[in-house]
Amino acid sequence: MNVGNRSGQIFLACSAIVMLLMFLLAACDQPERLRSNAELGLNEQQARGRAIYDLRCAACHEPYRKKDLNGPTMSGVFKKSYLPSGMVARDDRVGDIILMGKPKMPAFGDVLTQQQLQDLLAYMHTL
Ligand code: HEC
Repeated sequence: MNVGNRSGQIFLACSAIVMLLMFLLAACDQPERLRSNAELGLNEQQARGRAIYDLRCAACHEPYRKKDLNGPTMSGVFKKSYLPSGMVARDDRVGDIILMGKPKMPAFGDVLTQQQLQDLLAYMHTL
């Protein structure tokens, strides 16, 4: 085995380790994303809401991380009295935002049924 091959192998091994560490870091950063509904203690309605959230909202709003993505984080959205924008954090207000959208957020009024909206809000209360 020549030296070139050996350093190549070491490089590959190091890359694999770095990738593994990065994956673990990402998983540790947001462990809730990997947990099952049962592990998170979600009831049936909240679990239905979680599926809707992951499909429609998660691309723009972090559910479990206090970091903004394309929109403000939804972590702890109902735990405080006010939304990041200063609006009161109440089901009817948040529901209106979801149905009507915002300048940089699509409206979901044509997409979600009233039941789906309720499921979504129920899940968001667990964040
Ligand atoms: C394409 C990206 C995008 C998607 C998808 C999206 N949002 Fe948003 N959302 C935003 C942005 C950006 C804002 C900030 C307001 C603005 O700049 O228009 C926002 C604002 C909000 C707010 C108001 C926060 C405040 O402080 O007033 C709520 C609540 C919200 N989004 C919930 C949701 C939910 C629930 C979904 C899924 C049904 C969703 N959003 C889907 C981008 C998105």
